[in-house]
Amino acid sequence: MEGRKEGRKDEIMAGKSLFQQVNDYAHRANPYPLYAEMRKTPVLGDEDGNYAVSSYRLITELLHDPRLSSDIRARPPDDPKQQAVAQSSISPAFIRTDPPEHDRLRRMLTRQFGPPHTVGMIDNMRGDLEKYVNGLLDRMQDRKQIDIVDDYAYPFPVDVICKLLGIPPEDEKRFHGWAEDIAFSLDPAIGEEGRKLIAKGLVARNELGQYMRALIDVHRKQPGNDMLSRLITDSSADGRLTEEELVSSSVTLLIAGHETTVNLITNGTLTLLRNPDVFERLRHEPDLIIPLVEETLRFEPPVQFNSQRTALADITIDGVTIPKGAPVYLMIAAGNRDPVRFNEPDRFIPDREDNQHLGFGSGIHYCFGAPLARVEVQIALNALARRLINPRLVVDPPPYRQSAVLRGPRHLLVDVDGIK
Ligand code: HEM
Repeated sequence: MEGRKEGRKDEIMAGKSLFQQVNDYAHRANPYPLYAEMRKTPVLGDEDGNYAVSSYRLITELLHDPRLSSDIRARPPDDPKQQAVAQSSISPAFIRTDPPEHDRLRRMLTRQFGPPHTVGMIDNMRGDLEKYVNGLLDRMQDRKQIDIVDDYAYPFPVDVICKLLGIPPEDEKRFHGWAEDIAFSLDPAIGEEGRKLIAKGLVARNELGQYMRALIDVHRKQPGNDMLSRLITDSSADGRLTEEELVSSSVTLLIAGHETTVNLITNGTLTLLRNPDVFERLRHEPDLIIPLVEETLRFEPPVQFNSQRTALADITIDGVTIPKGAPVYLMIAAGNRDPVRFNEPDRFIPDREDNQHLGFGSGIHYCFGAPLARVEVQIALNALARRLINPRLVVDPPPYRQSAVLRGPRHLLVDVDGIK
């Protein structure tokens, strides 16, 4: 195993703002020393006009503050993200809207994503989910090395969200690239590279939108027992979803439902491999998985920061005024390791109590896929603990994906003596 490189304060680059450094790929494997530096100035502006908020208390306050918009249309017209939204052939996803538009769409979607559909559905799905992950491991039984990302963490949640929505899982080959480009365009638009990511994300969103439109047509003609069909046919006190709302909401669910969960499974596996005593404990105590997944969401959150907030007015917080129109980044991963809120925040404590992390956000945009994500990750990690014989990390740190927001390894190679 290669030695793990711990980031140190003296490695932090001079000349770039802390926020720019977080976005710099050089810090992807270990951004936590940067977050610790950031917390010393919990509301931190940089020369580009970005504001990063990094203490647990202030992030939580701002997640509940209506003066902070999730709607990119609140940005000045020359903002690259605002321009991409203006050029998109799909209306903004409801995650990127504010009340009352957001609340109406969220209500209409949660109707399909809550009782009696998904809550019962998730429980009923447990058996199938276990069968699916065990099937993946069965097929690798003659291998001595596996890539947790490509062989396990990616196919599983993608298959689940496709089946839930009513998307043929074999179409994954078509939308894989689009999904990745959209997810990575969530990163801040810093420099030429950032603008390129946003342009690629725009193309991908338009193409995925076209794919969804065709699929919605098929489901309209022949509704099945899936969420897309129900979203098409359902009407409530809020009315029906328009064609545009259907397209943007289903694109959102498809994207939200897989990149993040892939990273949580991978981040969880990496943390277990770095803490073999905890991996061993999980083998004998499968119920430990419930607090352990929460601790992974705190310790290595798949969404490191909210990248799309904009100040609707001048907001003075902790003595700093964030001007109207400024992009505001709520640094979830920094808040999750805030020593004012969590004891020993840099230690992974699998049965940590009082663990109200920000891994799924907070406030009106709180992740409504959380119950599904939790079950998927609990099942995936428990199966690894049960079945991998003597698993060892091949490279530490592993190579990371480009994205600073949706942070996770691109590959996670693990040597095993066998798979039970
Ligand atoms: C919102 C994280 C899985 C659907 C969010 C937010 C976070 C988050 C941090 C808040 C965003 C904000 O405040 O702007 C995660 C993580 C996941 C996960 C870490 C996996 C481990 C899922 C899944 C789905 C989903 C499986 C759907 C199937 C959504 C939706 C929203 C959201 C629709 C927007 C809610 C709104 O705007 O009202 N998620 N998520 N997520 N998530 Fe997730």
